Amino acid sequence: MSNQLAMKTNQSSVMNTYARFPITLVKGKGSFVWDENNEQYLDFTSGIATCSLGHVPEFVHDKLQEQLSLLWHCSNLYHIPSQEKLAKLLIEKSFDGQVFFCNSGAEANEALIKLARQHAEINGKVSRKIITFKHSFHGRTLAALSATGQEKLQKGFAPLVEGFQHLEFNSFEALKELESIDACGVLLELVQGEGGVNPANKEWVLELAKICKKNNLLLMLDEIQTGIGRTGTLFAYQQYNIVPDVMSLAKGLGSGFPIGAIIASNEVAQSFKPGSHGSTFGGNPLATTAGLATVQYVVDQEIAQQAHKLGNYLSEKLKELQKEYAQIKQVKGLGLLIGVVFEGSALDVVKKLLAKKVLVLTAGENVLRILPPLTASTEEIDLFIQTLGQVLAEESLIVG
Ligand SMILES: Cc1ncc(COP(=O)(O)O)c(C=O)c1O
Repeated sequence: MSNQLAMKTNQSSVMNTYARFPITLVKGKGSFVWDENNEQYLDFTSGIATCSLGHVPEFVHDKLQEQLSLLWHCSNLYHIPSQEKLAKLLIEKSFDGQVFFCNSGAEANEALIKLARQHAEINGKVSRKIITFKHSFHGRTLAALSATGQEKLQKGFAPLVEGFQHLEFNSFEALKELESIDACGVLLELVQGEGGVNPANKEWVLELAKICKKNNLLLMLDEIQTGIGRTGTLFAYQQYNIVPDVMSLAKGLGSGFPIGAIIASNEVAQSFKPGSHGSTFGGNPLATTAGLATVQYVVDQEIAQQAHKLGNYLSEKLKELQKEYAQIKQVKGLGLLIGVVFEGSALDVVKKLLAKKVLVLTAGENVLRILPPLTASTEEIDLFIQTLGQVLAEESLIVG
């Protein structure tokens, strides 16, 4: 479809579930993508925190190419070497346990929710309730959507899945409430991504983890957006002095190849038996080859550490812009998951940046969400800052 046609979504054969921007992307390399007219764009969306090693990373490409000529798919009824290796590597780099593979973030959270319920059943816990938080985002399938703390996304899809209660995020009052709720687990993002780039307060998380331990609640983390180096450590929890019982992953795990996973402690993982849960494609040879190459590269090349440094660099530059332009109200985030709160519509800023060949996202109405590849260069970050500065200057609301 040409760019012009793409603008008219009613002429598309694809369902209108996304408010698509009027460009058609056909090629990517590193931090850049190209449209069908060979126009180049700086991509600071990374396919929504997915292409964390940039587009078409060579190491992952080569491993996939090798696997392409060996075996694409064989089902989970047989052992798959890349799946075993990826599971082992993920556990080595996180916490002792076992991994279940699937194909997306929502599917990972479905598995996590089912596992928590099964674990409660096996351990004689009556309540199957899972506590989640307001402004959270856990996916679009029915249970994941029911776990999500955003009514606007749930509207029109009732009846939702029962057994979720949404508490206030980062609220110590909410923790008092949690003490008296009969539940089997708690699920949270350590930085709420879609909900506005809201990092969890460290003391609050520690207190939450304490309550989980005391009250025998599973501590479950949705690291779908924060995981695989995005926040400056391989997993965000490693900056919070806690270890979860269960963690969900997707997005950056496959460098753009669809893959999701949950990691659960050995004790919790035992609750799944043959037949409890499954996925035809989950963890297939191609997906886990992409995952294995990605995680290996992130670990070997110290990409998370790089994200930490680049995150600081980008945040500092954004704070300098904030001093100059009144439109910027706040800069927040962790590592290279960064939100810029604007006085007005963040979508307006996205559109103006698009016109200048720079791609970024929003997270809610007023928050610009910036998700550069973790492999971006400081020159690319400078180019982004310079372009954002031009957009703000054109709005001519300069302070002082
Ligand atoms: C924190 C979090 N959880 C779950 C999901 C859902 O993942 P997917 O779109 O792969 O189903 C997302 C996607 O944005 C996410 O950011």
